Amino acid sequence: MTAPHTWTIRHATAADLDALDAIESACFPAAEAASRETLYARLQSYPECFWLLTDGEVIAAFVNGFATDRADLTDDMYDDPSQHDPHGRWQMIFGVDTAPLYQHHGYASMVMRQVIEDSRARGRKGLVLTCKDRLVGFYAQFGFLDEGVSGSVHGGVVWRQMRLTF
Ligand SMILES: CC(C)(COP(=O)(O)OP(=O)(O)OC[C@H]1O[C@@H](n2cnc3c(N)ncnc32)[C@H](O)[C@@H]1OP(=O)(O)O)[C@@H](O)C(=O)NCCC(=O)NCCS
Repeated sequence: MTAPHTWTIRHATAADLDALDAIESACFPAAEAASRETLYARLQSYPECFWLLTDGEVIAAFVNGFATDRADLTDDMYDDPSQHDPHGRWQMIFGVDTAPLYQHHGYASMVMRQVIEDSRARGRKGLVLTCKDRLVGFYAQFGFLDEGVSGSVHGGVVWRQMRLTF
């Protein structure tokens, strides 16, 4: 019998690139997935704004996004890590990923709760994300409010913007 996983949540390093790239590609269609180059640039700019659920060997889930004083999530943010402001009022969420093998175990929820807790501790005003219709209920569980259809046309699909304000 294999031992149960003991999961912890940590921030990222550049050494996580391969694992995060593999999860991102497995979770999103190519038009929506952050490219390896984008993930690399984000890891260089804001590793402290990645939250990874890991047992020390595998990474099961991760959340990432930068901080900014801009209140709404816009498409130019995804590939432009230079906009990250460590003291920004809003924690943007660009990706919530659980590797397919590990989905339906509450792992994305564990990471999201940690992101919310850390964002509060960092003095942010709140968090902003965009999601597809079917996940509005998922994020509402954490206190995110639906602000309607986002201006984002990322990946050629319709996104809703949701905000959790502390
Ligand atoms: C969405 C995703 C991150 C969820 O990851 P996960 O680790 O399986 O999520 P959790 O187990 O923490 O939470 C899922 C639970 O939330 C609840 N839930 C899910 N959608 C819900 C909804 N619309 N309304 C209410 N509750 C919902 C259900 O209880 C669900 O349990 P189930 O998966 O057994 O049905 C994962 O499916 C994924 O990576 N998908 C591909 C990428 C993606 O779409 N990311 C989101 C971008 S906005």
